[in-house]
Amino acid sequence: AGSVTRDDAGRLTVAGVDVVTLAERHGTAAYVLDEDDFRSRARAFRDGFGASFERFGGADVYYAGKAFLCTAVARWVDEEGLYLDVCTGGELAVARRAAFPPERIAFHGNNKTVAELRDALEYGVGRIVVDSFDEIDRVVALASELGVRAPVMVRVTVGVEAHTHEFIATGHEDQKFGFSLAGGQAMEAVARLLAHPDAVDLRGVHSHIGSQIFDTGGFEAAIHRLVGLHAQVEAEHGVPMPEIDLGGGYGIAYTSQHTPLPPAVLAEAMADIVEREFKALGDGDNSRVPRVSVEPGRAIVGPSTFTLYEVGTVKRVELGGGHARTYVAVDGGMSDNARPALYEADYSCTLANRASTAEPVLARVVGRHCESGDIVVLDEYLPADTRPGDLVAVPGTGAYCRSLSSQYNHTPRPPVVAVRDGESRVIVRRETIDDLLALDVADA
Ligand code: LLP
Repeated sequence: AGSVTRDDAGRLTVAGVDVVTLAERHGTAAYVLDEDDFRSRARAFRDGFGASFERFGGADVYYAGKAFLCTAVARWVDEEGLYLDVCTGGELAVARRAAFPPERIAFHGNNKTVAELRDALEYGVGRIVVDSFDEIDRVVALASELGVRAPVMVRVTVGVEAHTHEFIATGHEDQKFGFSLAGGQAMEAVARLLAHPDAVDLRGVHSHIGSQIFDTGGFEAAIHRLVGLHAQVEAEHGVPMPEIDLGGGYGIAYTSQHTPLPPAVLAEAMADIVEREFKALGDGDNSRVPRVSVEPGRAIVGPSTFTLYEVGTVKRVELGGGHARTYVAVDGGMSDNARPALYEADYSCTLANRASTAEPVLARVVGRHCESGDIVVLDEYLPADTRPGDLVAVPGTGAYCRSLSSQYNHTPRPPVVAVRDGESRVIVRRETIDDLLALDVADA
């Protein structure tokens, strides 16, 4: 996060609050979120895309709530003037609790229930991103019943192989999302929607090719195909398509291995691709570029947060041949960060509560769960004197950690603590054993 420094005692300090104080006040494990970092990143995306796309119809930035959402964060997103992407009735409920303006919400998902769609239409969400023929039937029926005109986008599978982990790539053909472009289903979806002009307001087409992407080549290929579809719809149906949605997926640096583009540079690169593709359609000008939207989640919230853990045990394991590995076990693990186990995701960490001049040793930071794959950080050099009671901070845990967390082994989930201007406050409280037991029907 932007404002993380070390004080004279070597304590990690964020927005004017040191981690020893945070641990005393809020306990460990805890997600520590730098509010100003989140807000400035949100603004950087809004302003960057706003500026780069100003020469066309402008751009809207949807914050993808799946990365991390709670009421406070939904309010910040609103205050910073961004839009919000929700993908379940649960996320929609958080948005409503935050009184997020419905017209700035897009509702995603490949299997939304009738109840969720009804809620969304009644609340008046700005976009429903339809993902299947079954859903088109449901939206048409519900909109007719409620007497509203549903604003929809069509999610398209563009057939692009994004260079990322297989489980988070979504642009290639053989997966569950969207209407296939190559198979002609995207055009068929458009035709079916346009057959119900009273129930449906078709706004445009949408593609999301995957997550944690650095290479703009994937976006280039996706935009090429999406713009082709956009033009084909306008030509064959004679209707204007006022918008195009390019999805999210911008990567962040979990380790020094990655150097993501700053949002303004990224926005300019995306704008250049969009411009080139529309110019290539024939008339060589910009006038056909519709309003563009993007949906970054990870790139806004990921770097804003670190997880603060306390070390419980340190174990030296001899590997043979004179090699050894130090296992540092902390009071969390795969229940608060499933990404190493799910995607072999790599993180880094640092001793956070003090300075140490001890020699660095190769350590593996592990959790407290009953699996050997419960790894927090695969390989990291930590001071040889790292010991029980020390604090370890793992940066870059704002996205898909709390939102993907579980109660595995009946582990209460950590709180999310927002830090700003020398103050800390809980924005999602820590779960208790009572919270866990409350769901368990004891006299069943
Ligand atoms: N838009 C759509 C339609 C999406 O499906 C996603 C993410 C996003 C936007 C935001 O993508 P982002 O900018 O955050 O990359 N759990 C995985 C990531 C799953 C992403 C799901 N969809 C992980 O931890 O890496």
